[in-house]
Amino acid sequence: MKTLNFPRITTHVLQEMKLKGEKISMLTAYDYSMARIIDHAGIDVILVGDSASNVMAGHKTTLPITLNEMIYHASSVMRAVERALVVVDLPFGTYQGNSREALNSAIRIMKESNANAVKLEGGREIKESIDRILSAGIPVMGHLGLTPQSINKFGTYVVRAKEEEEAQRLKEDAKLLEEVGCFAIVLEKIPASLAKEVTGNIKIPTIGIGAGSKVDGQVLVIHDMLGINQDFSPRFLRRYHNLYEEMKGAVEMYIKDVKSLDFPNEREQY
Ligand code: KIV
Repeated sequence: MKTLNFPRITTHVLQEMKLKGEKISMLTAYDYSMARIIDHAGIDVILVGDSASNVMAGHKTTLPITLNEMIYHASSVMRAVERALVVVDLPFGTYQGNSREALNSAIRIMKESNANAVKLEGGREIKESIDRILSAGIPVMGHLGLTPQSINKFGTYVVRAKEEEEAQRLKEDAKLLEEVGCFAIVLEKIPASLAKEVTGNIKIPTIGIGAGSKVDGQVLVIHDMLGINQDFSPRFLRRYHNLYEEMKGAVEMYIKDVKSLDFPNEREQY
């Protein structure tokens, strides 16, 4: 089975891919033009990540982005996408500790952006919120390991769950997320051996970022993999382009042409 044959990717297609051993490709997008390119290239899942807070808005963490801002990004992406499954992050402060608020936040995302699913960071501590969102028929993707919305608790972006206690908790949380009905789980920055074990223990797909190759799929932030953002170069990142330099070079040429009166020429005017 090749997913390119599917006219539209659904959560059921992802489940089928896991069963058949076909890897799931996932990238972030936050705007119409980027989402259109990624979708046309044949990506399986587009994540409207709260990493928009960093790469689109220039914040140091994912914490400041608001629900309204996420809905703006998600609806821009949805206007472009014809095939990929679109998952949207519930931002910090819109689902933790209050399942009624969590449901309202998820409903706003689904109603106002037309997205296909939401993603929440955490395990047992947000079970009630996940239960409530699922009960409204909204598909939920989980996210375990390095959960950037908890950066103030962690204090650092280092690899998580290297110690037995945290690894055990993560394994239990993955099982719990499967049992409550999540359709997939992102595993961020954990040892490859742990990601492999979790992937083998649950029936829903795992999508890794810095979690090795023995997971059911991979996700990267588009600005990192295209080399637009050069400030971030963790070991797990593969850079497929150097768009920062290419775009800067093009802008420098434009400035030079304007200053030297080379642009516009005779053919570029009316
Ligand atoms: O917000 C995001 O981009 C994410 C990915 C890194 C998984 O959550």
